[in-house]
Amino acid sequence: MQILFDTGCLVQALEDLQNSAVLNLCRQETCKGWVASTSVPAILENAKNRDVQSLLRVLAVMTPTAHDIDIALEAEKPFEVELLARLVDTSGLDAVVTLTPEKFSGLPVQILAPGELQKKLDAPPAPVKEVRLLDITASYHEILNAVEKETAETIRSGYFILGPKVAEMEERIASYCQAKYAVGVSSGTDALLIALMASGVGPGDEVITSPYTFFATAGSIIRVGAKPVFADINDITFNIKPEHIERCITSKTKAIIPVHLYGQCADMDPILQLAEEHGLRVIEDAAQAIGSEYKGRPAGSMGDLGCFSFFPAKNLGSFGDGGMVTTNSEELYDQLKVLRVHGSEPKYYHKVIGGNFRLDALQAGVVSAKLNFLEGWTEKRRGNAETYNQLFKDSAMTPFVQLPPEVFPRHVYNQYVICAGNRRDELRTFLNENKIGCEIYYPVPLHIQECFKPLGYKLGDFPAAEKAARETLALPISHEISKSQMEYVVNMIHQFFLGE
Ligand SMILES: Cc1ncc(COP(=O)(O)O)c(C=O)c1O
Repeated sequence: MQILFDTGCLVQALEDLQNSAVLNLCRQETCKGWVASTSVPAILENAKNRDVQSLLRVLAVMTPTAHDIDIALEAEKPFEVELLARLVDTSGLDAVVTLTPEKFSGLPVQILAPGELQKKLDAPPAPVKEVRLLDITASYHEILNAVEKETAETIRSGYFILGPKVAEMEERIASYCQAKYAVGVSSGTDALLIALMASGVGPGDEVITSPYTFFATAGSIIRVGAKPVFADINDITFNIKPEHIERCITSKTKAIIPVHLYGQCADMDPILQLAEEHGLRVIEDAAQAIGSEYKGRPAGSMGDLGCFSFFPAKNLGSFGDGGMVTTNSEELYDQLKVLRVHGSEPKYYHKVIGGNFRLDALQAGVVSAKLNFLEGWTEKRRGNAETYNQLFKDSAMTPFVQLPPEVFPRHVYNQYVICAGNRRDELRTFLNENKIGCEIYYPVPLHIQECFKPLGYKLGDFPAAEKAARETLALPISHEISKSQMEYVVNMIHQFFLGE
């Protein structure tokens, strides 16, 4: 539970900091306590030399915007009452804890007296009736202070494009991925595009990739003037099959783009070996896979280049678009940096044509702030996957749904994708009717997309990719969901297949 305390409640807590029941609940992390920054002067004024710093260490500080303050000033109720109610409402907190609940009457938020908080926490949780596929704002509180610090520093510095925040984030991501270099770019799509450009891929070249991936993987190959050549996938991991890649290699092949789909690495050893034998570049599409590993090696550190996306729904998402290219090659790193700024080196002198692939400092700051939480979130996702697997097994659902196995640890479960056979579409409708968010990634494999008709592929060319497109369904897996929400999802799937 996320609780906002009013001034009076915190002044009372100061009288006996160690024994304050409400603060102890926050210390034990039974709930998370917040204080509005606008309450701090009043707390200091009433503190009578008591230890305000120790009090604030137990809580997180929430800063209202000038607009929040304006609205609270215009309202009828006292300023603090309106402001706290607005903060709870707009920030998705659960309740205000106050010594004077009557002052908040009529406002649309839950109000508790200190003595009621424990009772509320002890009460059995309300039955789950809805699970969203992704609720990004549910963990907003966790990162609020860190993001606020990064954002304020950027706004105050006036350094909005590239600059020190981007450089700092690049260094941290490179180290996280165990790559020597990282270059922040404008999106995951642009990461792929610039990686292909830096690899010298262009007209007349062929690039082998999976037909079962997000459009950008193949779209970027066409955008550099080259031809995507598809190789079918493994029907359990949904990742490209090295045996199929080998059959596609011709004298025109310049690169391979394995996609670490849903957060699990492709089978990289045979792919890297094929690339070495044939002199090909390997560009890892790790857009969905930050933090994943293959035989102890992190995604983005194995190929010549690794491409990441910071799209908000990714495990490490920014507050807009953003991406990253990693590499261990100094030569590629230098090229990437030049291509990112229209090929300009030195400024206004262009020996090559690049693009505007720059990352902005506000997004870099958000990513840096969230990076501190990524490992914890990833472990929660992995725990959620284990919980789902167990729940499906316990409810005898495995003859009906194929679970996503972890073939190459460490899977980071950007998506938890089941295979529901020929009843997938019906199941999706049933889950949606029961307010469970689920999604089909991806309903149309790339080889039969209309815009790729000139490539000459037809339905039937890649049976595993086509089956995956027909039968798979992604279930809610984000680190924010609870065990009871997962139980609800599995119960509903059980009900769908067995009607009980
Ligand atoms: C596998 C894959 N490649 C590339 C991208 C492109 O990333 P972005 O949306 O940041 O451009 C995505 C994003 O959804 C993706 O999932």
